Amino acid sequence: MEQLNLSPGPIGIFDSGFGGLSILKQIRLLMPEYDYLYLGDNARTPYGSRSFQVVYEYTLQCVQKLFQMGSNLVIIACNTASAKALRTIQQKNLDVSSGRRVLGIIRPTAECVGTLTKNKHIGILATPGTVISDSYTIEIGKLFPDVVVSQQECPMLVPLVESGEISSSGTDFFVRKYVQSLLEKDNLIDTIILGCTHYPILYDTIRRYVPQNIRIVTQGEYVAQSLNNYLLRHSALEKCITRGGSCSYYTTESVENFLRVARIFMEQDVKAQTISL
Ligand code: DGL
Repeated sequence: MEQLNLSPGPIGIFDSGFGGLSILKQIRLLMPEYDYLYLGDNARTPYGSRSFQVVYEYTLQCVQKLFQMGSNLVIIACNTASAKALRTIQQKNLDVSSGRRVLGIIRPTAECVGTLTKNKHIGILATPGTVISDSYTIEIGKLFPDVVVSQQECPMLVPLVESGEISSSGTDFFVRKYVQSLLEKDNLIDTIILGCTHYPILYDTIRRYVPQNIRIVTQGEYVAQSLNNYLLRHSALEKCITRGGSCSYYTTESVENFLRVARIFMEQDVKAQTISL
């Protein structure tokens, strides 16, 4: 079997802020044996309304940091960064011969769509950056050309979550507005994908404004399953992941700010450290 010349290290999980915690949680449920590093760029969140160049530069810095900290495999657990930065990082910045890898979360989510919609009408709720990139429409179109995809950008939701406004009348107002706009684009939608890793924390609110016959899909389980399959297919890289069952949390903001919202996502207290990039 092929062997990689890498010192084993934890899997790195990156998001612009707290959203990646919703992905990390599902990955750890499925693969608790590995070690993980979580990095949230809370100081510069949200990425959703920033330009391609800025999202690329910020994401690259965070990916490089996770590599420096010992990860050989980094998951960009952020749709906006997956949409705007992943391909460029893979093509321009990653030395493939090193054996290290960076993966995103849009492709694994797109892959599950065909099995979820019955009438082939899908809605996506996402950040402006993800919507403008058209990544979901493109990826779903490649795999399921007969699926109709409608998108709605939700610029206020990430700032609300990052501020800890999980259940407030302000959050309700924006959720209702975005859901209505999406359904006005296509009233046949039978499945809505939460195409931003921050949105699962707003699931109950979103559920209240989405008609009961429409399925709401969160990405975490699909991303976790896809990563599991990837590691089964890439056993040389899998051997370069340490197996201590630990998770360390890093934020570019203050620890206090991070813990306040992280505990809502993780449903438990975690320990975190501030990091500079
Ligand atoms: N969690 C990120 C996503 O999945 C939010 C991006 C942002 O910072 O706006 O798109």
